Amino acid sequence: MKAELEPFHAIAISKQAHALKAEGRSIIHMEFGQPSTGAPQAAIARAHAVLDAESMGYWESAPLKQRLAQFYDERYGVTVHADQFILTCGASPALVLALSSMFSPGDRIAMARPGYVAYRNTLKALHMEPVEIACGADVGFQLTAAALAAIEPAPHAVIIASPANPTGTLIKAKELQAIAEVCRARGIRIISDEIYHGLSYVEPAQTILAYEPQALVVSSFSKYFSMAGWRLGWLLAPPEHVDRAQAYCGNLFLTAPSLSQHAGLAAFDALDELDGHINVYRENRRLLLAALPELGLTTVAPPDGAFYIYASIAHLTDDSLAFCKRLLQDTGIASAPGIDFDPVDGKYFIRFSFAVSTAEIAEAIRRLKPWFAAQPRKD
Ligand SMILES: Cc1ncc(COP(=O)(O)O)c(C=O)c1O
Repeated sequence: MKAELEPFHAIAISKQAHALKAEGRSIIHMEFGQPSTGAPQAAIARAHAVLDAESMGYWESAPLKQRLAQFYDERYGVTVHADQFILTCGASPALVLALSSMFSPGDRIAMARPGYVAYRNTLKALHMEPVEIACGADVGFQLTAAALAAIEPAPHAVIIASPANPTGTLIKAKELQAIAEVCRARGIRIISDEIYHGLSYVEPAQTILAYEPQALVVSSFSKYFSMAGWRLGWLLAPPEHVDRAQAYCGNLFLTAPSLSQHAGLAAFDALDELDGHINVYRENRRLLLAALPELGLTTVAPPDGAFYIYASIAHLTDDSLAFCKRLLQDTGIASAPGIDFDPVDGKYFIRFSFAVSTAEIAEAIRRLKPWFAAQPRKD
């Protein structure tokens, strides 16, 4: 039977935002986690040069895989081989590859609720069974070793994300290690979505590979590297799984865009520039967190990384989608409704992305304050 997938409601909000913009309204796009910083200059310059010089056939960049392996050594002190990287069109196909090449229809895959919308939907599309574990503000909306020890029967795998979407919260190193131990003991394979690594405000995120070499890692150039539209990412697979994952990739997707692979390699010459982006997000985060109490939004887990604030609006509504639409219509601020991330409690939550410019954040706060002050309480 065909799987029915929920749409990503933030896309509908975004469409409405663009329609309002076309009518001349001033819109602040806080609905998607899309870096406002743009690709590094070195990547853009390389792309220009390559366009004039190369024929752009199907291609897998060996130098890029080498550079990625070196990056894991530099950033995490973890040794991986260049051959373990399978280059993809972003983390999204890398997740499809990880799941489809290693698991079967009917397999049970655990994840935190709230969590990134595509986890649930990708599993459904592959006829696997999402096992959603409710994670509240008390645990930073994150999975714990204790929660994974308690699921009966043990799932085939778990998807973890640290920092996470929609909350930006981290799983601290000690807990990550405990998760790895529980999963090893129970035979639960770990898929770690590390797409927000490099964007942390408290402590740098450690890769799961430091604790579990059998884990599968998905990541991409979309966030830290600020190259979302270039569609470039990777699956980092354990050595004995590489051939199978590569065969799946060859059949399902062929290769990642050649131009992006060239540009992605050049992006490694701009790590200082990329590391500097965090200063923009840190300031945006500071401004937003400081403004939240005045908006009456007090139930949040402050984001340790990424660029999201996930806040409870339970005192104002039990329909986050209608709330986001009204907010957009009245203020021009686009946001994402919690139902995209949590089919049960998401009706009480809203997600703001602060990946926009600091000037936009300041303007958003100016508009949000009177609007929230005017909202009637539900009870
Ligand atoms: C947690 C998470 N994983 C994966 C993705 C997919 O990213 P991409 O396919 O652009 O690499 C996103 C996009 O926002 C995300 O938030």
